[in-house]
Amino acid sequence: MTTGCEFKPGLEGIPAAQSSISFVDGKQGILEYRGIRIEELAKKSSFLEVAYLLIWNKLPTDSELEQFKSDILNHRRIKYRIRDMMKCFPETGHPMDALQTSAAALGLFYSRRALDKPDYIYDAVVRLLAKIPTMVAAFNLMREGNDPVQPNDSLDYAANFLYMMTEKRPHDYQSKIFDTCLTLHAEHTMNASTFSAMVTASTLTDPYAVMASAVGTLAGPLHGGANEEVLLMLEQIGSIDNVQSYVDECVANKQKIMGFGHRVYKVKDPRAVILQGLAEQLFELEGEDPYYKVALELEKVVEAKYGQKGIYANVDFYSGLVYRKLGIPSDLFTPLFAIARVAGWLAHWKEQLGVNRIFRPTQQYTGVHDQPYIPLEERM
Ligand code: CMC
Repeated sequence: MTTGCEFKPGLEGIPAAQSSISFVDGKQGILEYRGIRIEELAKKSSFLEVAYLLIWNKLPTDSELEQFKSDILNHRRIKYRIRDMMKCFPETGHPMDALQTSAAALGLFYSRRALDKPDYIYDAVVRLLAKIPTMVAAFNLMREGNDPVQPNDSLDYAANFLYMMTEKRPHDYQSKIFDTCLTLHAEHTMNASTFSAMVTASTLTDPYAVMASAVGTLAGPLHGGANEEVLLMLEQIGSIDNVQSYVDECVANKQKIMGFGHRVYKVKDPRAVILQGLAEQLFELEGEDPYYKVALELEKVVEAKYGQKGIYANVDFYSGLVYRKLGIPSDLFTPLFAIARVAGWLAHWKEQLGVNRIFRPTQQYTGVHDQPYIPLEERM
């Protein structure tokens, strides 16, 4: 039986929801959160303010923001049983797998489910925004046999994360740059992980399961995992002299170049423009990353080859260079994306609950019918 609808691989161009959370104009390179341009938020706002805006559809007043920040600060610690569980994870495991497991484990500890109660929603938002960074930083230290660093109450959200990674207080400019990175990654309309979050949310399961689904989806190299792959690629290319031959080889082997291309953007991703600026800011203060010149040359060569097809640098192209300069190991780049995107996932979770109908798409069956059952001993 056919459904009468045209099948679109990857659901390209098919609206799966109506949403007022964010907007992308892929031809003009415009991204807005709740109608506010990303460039303005990156310059003037902070990650937690942006999270509030995304989730509650309004810029918070001074007292609302202070309350939100203080509630998050008070929930940053994780239960020792979660830490003990994480200690048992293999140290060779990928931090995204550790994060997915730990996010799901929160559901064991906070099992009350009252999706129709605003206080339950608020508490879940606070808990997830507060604890996910702590879990990422804790796994990073524990996999090296070290105790996790407890959150530092004198530091704000971004500074505290950098502190928990190294037990050193970051410079203000480092915290500010990292906070801006979080803002840039906080939300991006309908994409694989957000869709995954919404499908899971639509079953009315708990928000920790929703986040765990989304983290698992973000981990793939075609989605959030690309930022880690970009650095590996730059290291593999090694020098600007090898860029052209690397691209030629990718073209010959029909291999995608990581950090380029986007389903929606047909120009340079506006987040990549801002991230490149942040990278340059850091390089000015701390010295240039040896792979920055390789990245610039690669961007030039890819644009010359693929620009007319609308393939340009995406958000993942420059973020790794920023994170590396901040001293973050490359396999944590995707978990950092997740720390930020929790805000967007939570906004979509809340929006989905307001209009919920369980996702139950259809399929076009391509198999056979009325086949005989062949007994085992007669099978060839
Ligand atoms: N390098 C070379 N060719 C590319 C690239 C690339 N990075 N991206 C797309 N193309 C080509 C692709 O080969 C295809 O060519 P043709 O029409 O000749 O077969 C055409 O462009 C369309 O590509 P597609 O894969 O059908 O496009 P899509 O919308 O399904 O995929 C994408 C979008 C982001 C998955 C893809 O561009 C890609 O795999 N990029 C590399 C991985 C990456 O950087 N991912 C991060 C995406 S942005 C952040 C996020 O979503 O997490």
